[in-house]
Amino acid sequence: MVAVADRLVEESPYEASIRAALAVLDVEKLTREFVEQGEWIFIPQLLPMSLVDQMAAEVRSFSDAEIHRVRVPFVRKAGTVGQVAIARKAPLLSALHRSPSLLAFTSKLSSQTLTIKNARDAHAAALYVYRRRGDHIGFHYDDCGCEDAASYTGTFGVINDTKTSRVEFQMFKNDKTRPMLERSINTTPGSFVFFCGSKAFHRVTPLGANEDRVAYSFAYVREGKRLRGFRRFTENISDAILYFGPKAIFQKNYR
Ligand SMILES: [Fe+2]
Repeated sequence: MVAVADRLVEESPYEASIRAALAVLDVEKLTREFVEQGEWIFIPQLLPMSLVDQMAAEVRSFSDAEIHRVRVPFVRKAGTVGQVAIARKAPLLSALHRSPSLLAFTSKLSSQTLTIKNARDAHAAALYVYRRRGDHIGFHYDDCGCEDAASYTGTFGVINDTKTSRVEFQMFKNDKTRPMLERSINTTPGSFVFFCGSKAFHRVTPLGANEDRVAYSFAYVREGKRLRGFRRFTENISDAILYFGPKAIFQKNYR
């Protein structure tokens, strides 16, 4: 299924630019850092601004009505745009998530064979929109219901007009043999943070007044480690990819 999906995205007009941006990276060095930091890496400028500007334009094409706001006291206050809407309206963002170059790069970083998650998974790819004062998310892991160390998260900074909101990470939190490693990052446009969802405890600190922060986040899963119980559903996706094209994936998913 992934091979077919890869062929589809190879035809995207963005893949050459994504591949070129990744080709200049010192993957061996980044992989060492990734391991040393408890399966966590931050790359301040992964994508060129020409691509980032297009990503920001796609983000701004979503009206307030298309951004689903959630407010759970002490847990999360922010907006979300799910991958179905992204696939329909934001071709570059969609291509990024499904980029074979990005999948190969992150597979190297993690020394795992990673795959895209099935299209029904809410965390497969989404825009996280922080646009009102106090928007935040509390400390959590991105295990996404998978077993430990099966799910990896990648987050691109797209819009970061904020002086107050940062993403804070804690690695080795439960490892009694070594000190906890803390990182606080500014997800500036074009930046990329990649980590093992069950190992990096993280939060987004509250947004200030009249600020705007949007991150594009997606999850890859170790091959063979998708959530159980979705096998039939996954086959449906496969059929959609093989016969009907990407749009059919989402139509089938939400029947
Ligand atoms: Fe998260």
